[in-house]
Amino acid sequence: MRPEVRARHARAAARLGGDDAFRIRLERFFTELHDPLHALYGADQRFPAAWDALLDALGRTAAEREPDLRRLDHEREITPDWLHREQTLGYVAYADRFAGTLRGVRERLGYLEELGVTYLHLMPLLHARPEPNDGGYAVVDYGAVQPELGTMDDLRALAREMRERGMALCVDVVLNHTAREHAWARAARAGDARRLAFYRTFPDRSEPDAYEATLPEVFPDTAPGNFTWDEELGRWVWTTFNAYQWDLDHANPEVFVALAEVMLTLANAGVDVLRLDAVPFLWKRKGTDCQNQPEVHDLLQAYRTVLRIAAPAVACKAEAIVAPRELVRYLGTGRHTGLECDLAYHNVLMALEWSALASGRADLLVRTVEAMPPAPPGAGWATYVRSHDDIGWAITDEDAGRVGEDARLHRRFLTAFYAGEFPGSFARGAPFQPRPGGEARINGTTASLAGLQMALEEGDDLDVDLAIRRILVLHAVAFAFGGLPLLYMGDELGMRNDTRWVEDPAHAGDSRWMHRPRMDWDAAARRRDPRTIEGRVWAGIRRLAAARRARRALHAHGLVRPVDTGDRHVLGLLREHAGERTLLLASFAAQRRPVGVRVAREHGVALGERAAEPDGRPVAVDGDTVVLEAYAHLWLDGPGER
Ligand code: GLC
Repeated sequence: MRPEVRARHARAAARLGGDDAFRIRLERFFTELHDPLHALYGADQRFPAAWDALLDALGRTAAEREPDLRRLDHEREITPDWLHREQTLGYVAYADRFAGTLRGVRERLGYLEELGVTYLHLMPLLHARPEPNDGGYAVVDYGAVQPELGTMDDLRALAREMRERGMALCVDVVLNHTAREHAWARAARAGDARRLAFYRTFPDRSEPDAYEATLPEVFPDTAPGNFTWDEELGRWVWTTFNAYQWDLDHANPEVFVALAEVMLTLANAGVDVLRLDAVPFLWKRKGTDCQNQPEVHDLLQAYRTVLRIAAPAVACKAEAIVAPRELVRYLGTGRHTGLECDLAYHNVLMALEWSALASGRADLLVRTVEAMPPAPPGAGWATYVRSHDDIGWAITDEDAGRVGEDARLHRRFLTAFYAGEFPGSFARGAPFQPRPGGEARINGTTASLAGLQMALEEGDDLDVDLAIRRILVLHAVAFAFGGLPLLYMGDELGMRNDTRWVEDPAHAGDSRWMHRPRMDWDAAARRRDPRTIEGRVWAGIRRLAAARRARRALHAHGLVRPVDTGDRHVLGLLREHAGERTLLLASFAAQRRPVGVRVAREHGVALGERAAEPDGRPVAVDGDTVVLEAYAHLWLDGPGER
């Protein structure tokens, strides 16, 4: 520690006391906490008091931490890869849509266990404003659970039961904004200057106009602009998302501390992973798009360190849906290496999987992933096929150029394809926030985008078979890529778009609700019947989970390298870790593809007996070629470096 930091550490340690473990962590991570906060707030007169308040919150949290959470702290300090192992499988659901209430979720844990789930992300569950509330992303009280879902005690009980079953619970922390109805915003409107300074507000349009010159819009159709005039406040309020979501001012140290306290409270309620929502937007700078600013990474390092000191069992997952070159920074690079988020959504892989499926070609995926830096040591991706949000085509000119594509044309093609407008498209999605020029993001469930809806409505058995294969090949890549795979609720049963989403007036303006259906427990009841659609998708996903668990090479910390298969329709993904190697071959073609056996030989993997089609049938080897059926995938294993 530098001398001035050492002096501050000595003061903090004397103030806080605590047990040995806490004292060691405070010392070990003091610089990592101190430096970003001093860089961000050192010159702010509010900082000294905020710093003391933060230290007190750390001491309090550590002191009040329950014995079984302390044990977990210890366990995860010894096994910091607990989220990155090949045994992990995540599931994402709205508590109410999945099981009514938090108690209901407890009753359904057996279903998730049957699937092999080890991690459950329950969508925003803290007390939100009445609808519309952006699916819970407009919080009025971070200290309470949404009343219809239950209470903080129910959350604690759910976390405890999950812990006993070896499952981790992930909860959202919405830190870019609060609801307009949050107590801080209400106080601001009542004339409280300290609370007014929690938000970014302006007396007239001069500043907002200056920012708007370079600001994109998140919801241009439904919430145009980034500022909202508030009559009661008599000021313009920064509202990146909807008018009722007021952006917090993270340049204010008191805001940092308030949100750190929210995280610490959730940590002591037994939450294992915090999903940090919309983090690219946390810091604003005129003349930029106000995303991915360097200060965001200081903030994330500081939040992460707060947890490391007081509740080290808790991990952070960044939700940063950004361009390929920005994405990896959320896992900690440069001076933040090893200090930022444990997980970040790999939105690029997700978008490129859909691109591969529509074009039948894997080369854009291969070249883009090749050009991206790997996940830094100790961190991992959250890999997924789709989420509760729309799919944005994170395809840059540079990446498209590598495979001779025009990025804009390709994005337009993908939009038309998944909206079901492109000739021959199997998809039944809907464009979201369309822009002039034919570009848009896309909504729809995995099954509807992958052709199952069309197959059932207009197709035959062969179409159904192809659609199921598409669903499985998408998941095979997400399960093999390295990181924590996240399954979105209902995708394990092939659930199609919710046709009735518009009937709910609170949702009618937001077509993302099309792919946020209520769980169909009748469909789930058919999951063990192999003759049903549900049974076939369920069995396929379970086979993938088992294949993943059985392969050490799939650990997130291992090598991830796309390889050339000699056929641009077939993705090759080489994984290696701890003396084992796996090559995933995944075909994005609707026709059968012969792949040279040499690919396996070159990469030191064998066509062993584990090599099999998605439905479990052994693969056909014909002389020097392996024959991959439409959308088939194969896992080939071999020894890695010993
Ligand atoms: C995140 C959420 C999205 C929400 C936004 C604003 O991107 O995933 O659903 O609209 O943040 O909170």
